[in-house]
Amino acid sequence: MEKSTGVATIAINPIAMRPHRLCIAPMMNCSDHHCRYFWRLLTKNALLYTEMVTPAALIHGDREGFLLFNPEEHPVALQLGGSHPQDLARCARWAEEWGYEEVNLNCGCPSDRVQSGMFGACLMAQPALVAECVAAMSANCAIPVTVKHRIGIDDMESYSQLLDFVRTIAAAGCRTFIVHARKAWLRGLSPRENREIPPLKYDWVYRLKQECPQLNIVLNGGINSLDECAEHLRRVDGVMIGREAYTNPYLLAEVDQRLFGSNTTVATREEILLQLLPYVEQHLSRGGQLNYISRHILGLFQNLPGARKFRRHLSENAYKPGAGIEVLEQGLALIRQETERAEVQAAARTTARAAERTAL
Ligand SMILES: Cc1cc2nc3c(=O)[nH]c(=O)nc-3n(C[C@H](O)[C@H](O)[C@H](O)COP(=O)(O)O)c2cc1C
Repeated sequence: MEKSTGVATIAINPIAMRPHRLCIAPMMNCSDHHCRYFWRLLTKNALLYTEMVTPAALIHGDREGFLLFNPEEHPVALQLGGSHPQDLARCARWAEEWGYEEVNLNCGCPSDRVQSGMFGACLMAQPALVAECVAAMSANCAIPVTVKHRIGIDDMESYSQLLDFVRTIAAAGCRTFIVHARKAWLRGLSPRENREIPPLKYDWVYRLKQECPQLNIVLNGGINSLDECAEHLRRVDGVMIGREAYTNPYLLAEVDQRLFGSNTTVATREEILLQLLPYVEQHLSRGGQLNYISRHILGLFQNLPGARKFRRHLSENAYKPGAGIEVLEQGLALIRQETERAEVQAAARTTARAAERTAL
């Protein structure tokens, strides 16, 4: 794609213009700045989201602590959870000033704490208020304001209610909607159950894109592989992965090549771990604890020989006072050992099978 400036013609990479093509979900207690730094080693292009933060925390709490992030994390979006337009507007301005690429409003979280604050998923029942929040935020910052929501809550049973919600908020200036493709039950289900029990309705999200082609529609919920991402991307503008990115992060290693057209080589798991070490050392040298970072990488070797031993070694040792990068190096040594053992066993099995065939 090319854009004429009148002075010169600039070539624009059409994929790079779609920052939401692959997003990694906001996840409380997971997607903190250490985790996002680690994810960034796996993919340069995915858009990363912070954990949800409330305006009250930013206005009255340790604002810098909540907002600070590593420069390597870009592109990164700040997620807010609130429902007071003016407070959200102040926070949107800070998001821009701190250098976030986007500010996102949480309209999908069903937890009791969030409901008692009158934000999160319960805002789906109040599209006019969400529109007011989005308008106030957009008026106070120059970065995109986006909304993450469910396909419905409680007795919102119909697709047309979802469409009304989206259209009302789009009229306030929101262009990007991240849709968790299941409804949330505000009473009776825990947040965890609300991520598993209500059925996924991808068709509703596809239909939303069909009926609102001018909007940027990102599909979220239950995605476990890049093949699934590629399939959804035929129908929507972007996909967002949550739990699978956290528990099986190496899934992200091919995102740049497969979804963003990059021709860089895919790093191995071991290379990723080694690339993380200087960051860990810097964190430790500032008095940080190893397990603040190591807890996010427990799944790096998922499905490989030694993965369980790696996980256990880190879990049992990284929280100890004075634990240093040797814990990670020992974990890596366990992986190497188990990989070697598995290779020797596989070779022995092949030899035995060949011997059997010769004997026949
Ligand atoms: C531990 C955890 C914490 C979460 N915290 C948030 C949050 O802060 N904000 C939010 O919008 N969604 C949050 N979510 C929901 C995810 O962003 C995502 O919508 C959900 O997990 C469905 O995607 P998945 O099936 O790919 O995991 C959280 C999910 C998990 C598992």
